[in-house]
Amino acid sequence: MSLSSAPAAQAAPAAPARTAQHRRYLMCRPEHFTVSYRINPWMEPAKPTDTAKALAQWQALYDTYLALGHEVELIDPVPGLPDMVYTANGGFIIDGRALGVRFRVDERRGEERPFMDWFAAHGFDVVEPVSVQEGEGDFLLVGDTILAGMGFRSTGDSHAEIARVFDREVVSLRLVDPRFYHLDTAISVLDPVEGPGGVEKANIAYLPSAFDDHSRRILEERYPDAILVDDADGAVFGLNSASDGYNVFISPRATGFEAQLRERGYNPVLVDLSELLLGGGGIKCCTLELRGKR
Ligand code: ARG
Repeated sequence: MSLSSAPAAQAAPAAPARTAQHRRYLMCRPEHFTVSYRINPWMEPAKPTDTAKALAQWQALYDTYLALGHEVELIDPVPGLPDMVYTANGGFIIDGRALGVRFRVDERRGEERPFMDWFAAHGFDVVEPVSVQEGEGDFLLVGDTILAGMGFRSTGDSHAEIARVFDREVVSLRLVDPRFYHLDTAISVLDPVEGPGGVEKANIAYLPSAFDDHSRRILEERYPDAILVDDADGAVFGLNSASDGYNVFISPRATGFEAQLRERGYNPVLVDLSELLLGGGGIKCCTLELRGKR
């Protein structure tokens, strides 16, 4: 009888190697930030805001992007448009084509022209929007597909419009919790749109409770490997994050999501935008991705 040696301790499966990809973002300094109206459940005009603190926190996000090798363009803030800091709502851009926005909320309609003018002045082909939609707040590019939110701000008609404008598959998802009124508060796109050999399998993280049953089933089928984020992390806007495929910029309060990201081989980078959360926005809201042309 031969004695077999004890099996070696099983190593945990290695998390896949991730690569950071260069990003070009558009941001807007919150010089005029305040909460003077209420267009989402986070905003309480009676509660004072601290513009200096908002500026310092915003600056930390800007500096972090630069430190990690990304490029950040700036659009001038306009007095009287306190929500302009949330540039994700300024448009949606793929391959140098920039679709402008048509806000649902009157309070933000003054931002539409400044953003379209900025895109035009920076060499993008601007497409004037027809239907009501709020840009990258509700449209997320995942690989070749556009996930599109509706229920609170962007309309179903706008989903058909972006499918035409960008000639891509658009998947409509219905948001049901008023705290998560834009798609980018409930889904985070983790992986690069394009890898070295073309389009890679892209993955997402999401907050299941923010969607209706039908949308949740669509997400389960399309993204079986997605990170499912729990309500506690969702409630601190953990999903309102940006990613370069390796570094994922998230709120330091989203500790559960942070651990999930580490397990999958991502590098969570913690940036606190607590003051900007008083306006109902976080890291992703302050970040619009500029794809193509320069
Ligand atoms: N106060 C802004 C609004 O309600 C916040 C926008 C947040 N932006 C976002 N992409 N989720 O419109």
